[in-house]
Amino acid sequence: MKSSIRNQLFWGISSLIAFFVLLSCFLNLNFLDKYYIARKGAALHQEFRYIDRIYQGDFEKIRTQLEKLVQTRGANIVILDPNLAVKYESHPRPPGLPARPMQERPLPRFVTQTEDWSKPAYHIDAPQKGPHTEFLNFTAQLHNGDYLWLGTPLPEIRQSVAISNQFFLLTGILTIIIGGIIVLLYSRRFTRPILELNAIAQNMARLDFTAMYPIKTENEIGELGRSINSLSEQLGKSISELQQANHQLELDNERQRKIDEIRKEFISNVSHELKTPIALIQGYSEGLQLNVADNEEDKNFYCGVIMDEANKMNKLVRNLLDLSEIDSGYLQLDRKVFDLGQLAERVIEKYQLILKEQEIHLEIRRDGEAMVQADMGRIEQVLVNYLNNAVEHIDGERQLAVSVRAEDGRVRAAVFNSGKPIPEADKEKIWISFYKVDQARTRAYGGSGLGLSIVRAILERHHGRFGVCNRSGGVEFWFELEAVRTDETEQG
Ligand SMILES: Nc1ncnc2c1ncn2[C@@H]1O[C@H](COP(=O)(O)OP(=O)(O)OP(=O)(O)O)[C@@H](O)[C@H]1O
Ligand SMILES: [Mg+2]
Repeated sequence: MKSSIRNQLFWGISSLIAFFVLLSCFLNLNFLDKYYIARKGAALHQEFRYIDRIYQGDFEKIRTQLEKLVQTRGANIVILDPNLAVKYESHPRPPGLPARPMQERPLPRFVTQTEDWSKPAYHIDAPQKGPHTEFLNFTAQLHNGDYLWLGTPLPEIRQSVAISNQFFLLTGILTIIIGGIIVLLYSRRFTRPILELNAIAQNMARLDFTAMYPIKTENEIGELGRSINSLSEQLGKSISELQQANHQLELDNERQRKIDEIRKEFISNVSHELKTPIALIQGYSEGLQLNVADNEEDKNFYCGVIMDEANKMNKLVRNLLDLSEIDSGYLQLDRKVFDLGQLAERVIEKYQLILKEQEIHLEIRRDGEAMVQADMGRIEQVLVNYLNNAVEHIDGERQLAVSVRAEDGRVRAAVFNSGKPIPEADKEKIWISFYKVDQARTRAYGGSGLGLSIVRAILERHHGRFGVCNRSGGVEFWFELEAVRTDETEQG
């Protein structure tokens, strides 16, 4: 990220620092010497005023003050008489070297260069030929008429300026480096929360709302973090609600689709079941109309077939109505407490004749009391369905066994018939409407595959359990209901 805020901040502030440092260097290099000379000139003027105050014409009287001045201020001092002859000069001579008589000396440069002695002023030596030390000169007339010259060698000043410029350059570079580091750290600190917020926003774009911004400072960024946190929370809530609603919708759609499928299948099953009886009734009644059966016996047979098929249709319609009533949930159960064993015996009583006719060996097993609280009529319907199926499918040794017994708080009733076992794969399916294991056999006894669906519906309404298991040499259909203790019922 070339144009990131961090880089912009870093380069912006760093260039500002560099600009000011360079500006200071430029000003120093160009103007420091002039400023220095001006300040030096002012200092010389101050020295002049001091000397003018203490000097009365005899320099010997103030010699110590003058020497002290030379030592502390570093300025050379020359006093001239009104004829511009040198009276005193501070320039130190090596000890033992005799002074040249004043008259033999050439006139000092500043004497020829000074036009007006009356005005105290400083000036720089005019350019000279040959090796000469340049001076900053200060010339003025003292109050007693003598003249005063104060001078500072310029190379000294220039060297000081150069040194201070060097030093300044050094501090400038240091300032830029240290400033750069500080700005780098600062800009990092400044942009880190922005990057953190960005990461959270990117997570949010991926629908991950778990990350929260830790608010450390109460400033605009903290405020933004708080807003993003609340946005994330709200979005997370809304999206999860939306997902839930969507999921619910999918389930509803799925359920609707299944219901549609069941309805279609149901209609096709019912039409299929009705097709054969209707076709038979149509065929045989046409035969009667066309007098195909010419004798009484044939006519009776034709009428018998028509009545049989009509009966099957009637049974089918009744079973359908029954099943839809139980499954609808509107069926009111007439719950009463009774002994299931007694009920089973009573129901079997009605089968005695058929069993005898069909040479079926019956066995009844009852183990004591088996009290349940249920709709007796409906439970009888369950037993009848089990018994009808058993009689229809009985085979081999022609054994039928009915048992009722109470155990572990439940009452279990079972109907066993000898015969072919039910294939594993069909054990669950036989409880579904219209499902038949052996189509031909079922058709032979006029079954439509609704009996066990009615059993399932009734037992589900009673919160009972039911099932089928293949025993040795036969099949056992069973169901369980919650047992009722007699002392409970007596109290109730
Ligand atoms: N005791 C049994 N032995 C073997 N198969 C059975 C037995 N009871 C039921 N079945 C199988 O389960 C299928 C479903 O039984 P269900 O009682 O629901 O229908 P159905 O007897 O064919 O017709 P309906 O009872 O409506 O007259 C039967 O078609 C049969 O194939
Ligand atoms: Mg049946």
